[in-house]
Amino acid sequence: MSTLIRIEREANSGELEAQDRHNLRVAATAMEIARKLRWSDYKRLALAHASGEHHSTSYSSGTTYWERVIRDVNSQSKIPVRAANLHMETEARELSQVIEMSCLIAKRWEAAPEDLIMWAEIQNEIDQRVKDGLFDERHVHVLRQRGQAGAELIQQVVNTLPVFPTIALQAMQIASDPMAAGRKLEETVNSDAVLAGEILRAANSPAYGVKSPITTIRQAVLLIGMGEACRVIAASLFRPMFQAPALRPLWNHSLEVARLAEACARLANQGDPEEAFLAGLMHDIGRLAMLKTPPEMQSRIKALTDLGCDPLFAEMMMFGFDHCAAGTQVLRSWQIPQPILEAVAAHHAPERSDSVLASQLYLAECWAQGMEDLPSTRRLQSAMDRAGLRPEHQNLLPQVETISAWH
Ligand SMILES: [Fe+2]
Ligand SMILES: [Fe+2]
Repeated sequence: MSTLIRIEREANSGELEAQDRHNLRVAATAMEIARKLRWSDYKRLALAHASGEHHSTSYSSGTTYWERVIRDVNSQSKIPVRAANLHMETEARELSQVIEMSCLIAKRWEAAPEDLIMWAEIQNEIDQRVKDGLFDERHVHVLRQRGQAGAELIQQVVNTLPVFPTIALQAMQIASDPMAAGRKLEETVNSDAVLAGEILRAANSPAYGVKSPITTIRQAVLLIGMGEACRVIAASLFRPMFQAPALRPLWNHSLEVARLAEACARLANQGDPEEAFLAGLMHDIGRLAMLKTPPEMQSRIKALTDLGCDPLFAEMMMFGFDHCAAGTQVLRSWQIPQPILEAVAAHHAPERSDSVLASQLYLAECWAQGMEDLPSTRRLQSAMDRAGLRPEHQNLLPQVETISAWH
């Protein structure tokens, strides 16, 4: 059985070892390069095969090794994918360089959470190796190109998303300002029928147990409070964007992170809890944008994550950037205030930003167990320090069931 087929089976049964996960990332990177370079089937199959054993003693960069691999993949595939060994020396060099470059990328990625390095630094290291003549510029070029194509894809999605209503943004800003007067919020909400309906619906919900129906925004805001009014407005804005059944898990996750980020702010008395809630709702808007790209992109990302690649790595492979960058692109187009934009941009690497909100989002993301990237004890500790929290605070956070019951 080929090593990659075994890994695939074990990935499905959830028994992957660290080495297997590394091999998968190498295969994912190598196959992406081969796909972009339009390499023939036999070369892709050979790369997949070699990815599974590139740390074993059977791997070598020599011609003999690659001839043997190509013979093997020929004999295993139903239709011979290669008839003759042409230019084997050149091809062996190309194939080895792709495997070795993919291995370096995967290794740096795996160490990144504790080394606190980012993709740009990995890219710089690769560029240096091209200058040193160790890697081929053509192979690196296809990886660099993805960023431009990915940004264009996300922009196409952004153009299809509803325009962020200015009135709702104003209402959220008023409601999240502790000094704001209820009357100002009342005037703003009253000028938008949808928002007014949502606030009334919340006030008349069984949670508040009112005996006679609430019919004015003034009464409703007095009853539910400015903070809850802010949350209701925000949720009513975002919920329609996640309406498709496939997007429901992401909506539930966004709500969960919003509640947890708000709780982090309250527990440590750091920052603005309402702003943390809003940022939580928006933190993975980049994932939403990625999920709305063409189905072909979706199935390739799904194939990688099903195999065991962490979602952030799959995003980097497919788009050339992660959902933090995609989210920033969306939020900028909506003219969302800078503090939220900055926090969303850094929510998987909060140590890169001065924003406490970024650390609160990171902690909420970890404690919601979204499993979007590799765990990092160093990053977790630095986020807790900055957010003024300790590990035991986790026990004081709202439970998932409570969060799911909301809306
Ligand atoms: Fe998330
Ligand atoms: Fe995220």
